[in-house]
Amino acid sequence: MRAPEGEKLLWVALDNGIYIPHLCGLREAERPAASCRLCFVEVEGLPNPVTACTLPVSEGMLVHTRTPRVDRLVRTGFELLLSNHRLRCGKCEKNKNCELQKIARERGLKLRLSRLRPLISEVPVDESPKTFKYDPGRCVLCGRCVWVDHHQAKVGAIGFIRRGISRKIAAFGDVPLAESRCTECGECVKVCPVGALAFKEK
Ligand code: FES
Repeated sequence: MRAPEGEKLLWVALDNGIYIPHLCGLREAERPAASCRLCFVEVEGLPNPVTACTLPVSEGMLVHTRTPRVDRLVRTGFELLLSNHRLRCGKCEKNKNCELQKIARERGLKLRLSRLRPLISEVPVDESPKTFKYDPGRCVLCGRCVWVDHHQAKVGAIGFIRRGISRKIAAFGDVPLAESRCTECGECVKVCPVGALAFKEK
């Protein structure tokens, strides 16, 4: 397998048709957030699993994308995400085009909780923008939208607020997006891997 010097393993694998689960990774981001903890792999010579989105490839590297330790980490990380995610896929704009569904399909995981209790509180959907809506109950806190808002669109309308299970993405002052600096460029909606940010139907 060939790869440009310094390219992160996640992108090399995906470019070569090898699937590694990922939510927070963005190819354009120089410093990966590595927050979703789903892209674990094992590399021969390293004692512990590592995140593929942060690991630059090197000559002769031997990588295992499926090992008992990797599978356990991914399954646990995935369940933790689901515990805080409103799972009504039939009513979601991203149904059949959702990264959570893809991870479940690729890794044989269930899209429902078995070991954990759901933590979702009924947070309101922000329908204030003209062109899109934001459902915090579906957000997986991957941070892709925040990254493109700050680094590509350069608007700075949204960011992470609060800590622990109350953590969420919101406009400054937690005001509705239509009252924020948001210009509705739509870049954040395009990178949302789930149905948290979705364009309204025209
Ligand atoms: Fe690597 Fe999220 S894609 S930690």
